[in-house]
Amino acid sequence: MAHTTRTSALIALICFLLVPVACAERSASQERGRAIYFGDNGSALDGAEVQIGALTTKLPARTFPCASCHGRTGSGQSERGVNPSQITRDALTRPYSVKESAGRKRPPYTAATFRNAVRNGKDSGGNALAEAMPRFNFTDKQLADIWAFLEVIDDVTDPGVSDDAIRVGVVVDAANPVTQPQQKLLNVLAADINKIGGVNGRALTFVPLTPKGAAGDTVFALIVPQGAAPAGLAADVPVISVLPPPVAAAGAFALVTSEADQVAALKRFAAETWGVVRVKDACAARKGDTVLLAAASCAGSAKVASRVLMTQSVFASTPPASRSQLPPDSYVSIAAPLSRIAPNAQAAFAKTRSRAGNDKSAILAEADAYSAAALLVEALMRTGRDVSRAGVIENIEGIRNFEGAMTPPLSFGPNRHVGSRGAEIVRYDAKTATLAPGGTWIDTDM
Ligand code: HEC
Repeated sequence: MAHTTRTSALIALICFLLVPVACAERSASQERGRAIYFGDNGSALDGAEVQIGALTTKLPARTFPCASCHGRTGSGQSERGVNPSQITRDALTRPYSVKESAGRKRPPYTAATFRNAVRNGKDSGGNALAEAMPRFNFTDKQLADIWAFLEVIDDVTDPGVSDDAIRVGVVVDAANPVTQPQQKLLNVLAADINKIGGVNGRALTFVPLTPKGAAGDTVFALIVPQGAAPAGLAADVPVISVLPPPVAAAGAFALVTSEADQVAALKRFAAETWGVVRVKDACAARKGDTVLLAAASCAGSAKVASRVLMTQSVFASTPPASRSQLPPDSYVSIAAPLSRIAPNAQAAFAKTRSRAGNDKSAILAEADAYSAAALLVEALMRTGRDVSRAGVIENIEGIRNFEGAMTPPLSFGPNRHVGSRGAEIVRYDAKTATLAPGGTWIDTDM
């Protein structure tokens, strides 16, 4: 029919014009299969049950989405103590027999043997699968949907990536004066990477976006150099912010300890150092108290206290005139102290900054942008040429002790989306207006 032909010609044209935007469309069956695989709310997983090994009791399947064990791309590399098989359609149907873990040998799967595996825990050769693979009571149709989805699970269909380029959004507040030096630094970083082949053969660009613009799907991933990630981003976008977002999203990662955890670190420091278990609010400070300065506006009332604790961001927002009134025994939590940043990262950052020609005015903001970008580039490199958002998220979760950022070493995992969890508590001398060198590291992971 003329109408359909025109529509598909139009779609083809749009796809042609918007090369980096995803144009591969999934069928309705594949979409339903995807929803089950990832355990979306409202998917068929909600109504299903699982049986684990010899247990006769059935459990709701809700807490056992396939992705939680087989990984977001079906690569089976997620770490849960067992070895979940690779279950892309390609891997399941290789036309020769495959030796799986524990010496199990099996022929290629068909749709029917696949159903038998998921329902009854028998592989395509009739061998029993390990108990770690739950048995699901899905219907034939639901299993056909999953089977259909496994065919496209590792296709590259994500926005912001084409054959030879990849676009990463940088969420900025254009009114903030640090934005410009940050962007200059990122441009130099991208140019350096592109000179040596880009990320797996794709030229990298950093595109500045407002928080509103970031919600549109024009880039592959986002970095958020200032503070936490904005709300309302799609769950499957890899987002790296400095501080953890208020609401945890599947693709959201943060570099350092949240403000709230820094406050907890300050309190633990007070308990361990002076045996103070009740830290009071600086606004109501009385003589001799140990207080927490939660907002710069209370610096005046804090001066009678004997000790004042504050996070780095409160410290930064307290004007010098108010800082000078603080008692000599004041302490600041620093989430990324210089003493914990790898010397190589410091050197590489300094080199990139000097090439960008930036003065010292925005150095901390530049370090934040550099760190978020360095982590994302590391994950992109690890993901390889077949890059997908899901693959990048999985690879960030696989990073341990990454020392390429201007932060303490960063480690992530499926249940750990904050890379460095802790703060150094450093003494601030109000008389000389200096932070003492060295301090006490408090690990907030424990
Ligand atoms: C709790 C973890 C877990 C969950 C959830 C899970 N699996 Fe598995 N799965 C495994 C493990 C572990 C194996 C490997 C078992 C073995 O080697 O004996 C496996 C094996 C399989 C196999 C057999 C492949 C082969 O090597 O022969 C298929 C097919 C499979 N899973 C599909 C699924 C599907 C589809 C879902 C979601 C509906 C799912 N799995 C959910 C852990 C899991």
